[in-house]
Amino acid sequence: MVSNESDTFELNGEVPIHRLGYGAMRITGEDIIGRPDDEEAAHEVLQHAVDLGVDFIDTADSYGPGVSERLIREALDTDEVVVATKAGLLRNREGEWLPHGDPDYIRNQALVSRDRLGVDSIDLYQFHRPDPDTPFEDSVVAFAECKDEGLVDHVGLSNVSVDQLETARDHVEVATVQNQYNVGNREDEAVLQACEEYDIGFMPWFPLAAGDLGGVEEVLEDVAANHDATRYQIALAWLLEHSDVTLPIPGTSSLDHLEENVAASGIELEDEEYTRLTEAGAP
Ligand SMILES: NC(=O)c1ccc[n+]([C@@H]2O[C@H](COP(=O)([O-])OP(=O)(O)OC[C@H]3O[C@@H](n4cnc5c(N)ncnc54)[C@H](OP(=O)(O)O)[C@@H]3O)[C@@H](O)[C@H]2O)c1
Repeated sequence: MVSNESDTFELNGEVPIHRLGYGAMRITGEDIIGRPDDEEAAHEVLQHAVDLGVDFIDTADSYGPGVSERLIREALDTDEVVVATKAGLLRNREGEWLPHGDPDYIRNQALVSRDRLGVDSIDLYQFHRPDPDTPFEDSVVAFAECKDEGLVDHVGLSNVSVDQLETARDHVEVATVQNQYNVGNREDEAVLQACEEYDIGFMPWFPLAAGDLGGVEEVLEDVAANHDATRYQIALAWLLEHSDVTLPIPGTSSLDHLEENVAASGIELEDEEYTRLTEAGAP
């Protein structure tokens, strides 16, 4: 039986989670809008993730919108897993993701997500993306106030620079940062390093580049063959090896892919393999 063998990380030094989590963006309908064709299958994926030892699930109010959070509540005991949700993006009629960091909106969405997830307070509440039309600090203060008010336990950021992380830390204890990052896309290495310095969890979103890991694929395939593994598993093993604060959240709607991704937590890369992958994906 596959099990989550990743080690643990403590959010703000308080809440231990296994470092390999699950991203619940892709259990909704097409283009992350509306219901999936088979809601029962989505419930099964979530339940199976927990059965395999995943205790940390990432979602957002804008996934569906609302659908991902609802499915999580229906499928799971939300007191038994750490659910990280987000606010700050809304979907328009064209399906675009519009930044919306207005403080009243952020607090409103905390109330909505709290109810939809069926929790007294949201485990981890992340600012989805800075809004060019709202001063960054105003949005961050709204998240800090949600924490002070007890609507949320911990605050995270997403899609931020090192400067924005530093600014946010003046207003609130930041538990996590979630930026796009994978073995073939390391543009935010400086943000990861800042997270290491402050012992902040770093969630690399797009950890598998949705299957297109570009220039690193040849080395991934080569290393994968050595472990009787897939290149996706090696991409996850590299993320876990690369830093003690990475919290990969691969997303899938498939039970087989879920098992494969969780099994990646048991792969130990040889030093030479880790170095080759690191060099192949260097910016
Ligand atoms: N903060 C942000 O702005 C932001 C943006 C995007 C995503 N996220 C979060 O990050 C999570 C992960 O990102 P992501 O879903 O975009 O990227 P990802 O995890 O890199 O890729 C997911 C895609 O890869 C496929 N896949 C997953 N495991 C596979 C495997 N073992 N073999 C082959 N294909 C596999 C999935 O298809 P199948 O369903 O067929 O397996 C899905 O299409 C999301 O769920 C979400 O929680 C955050």
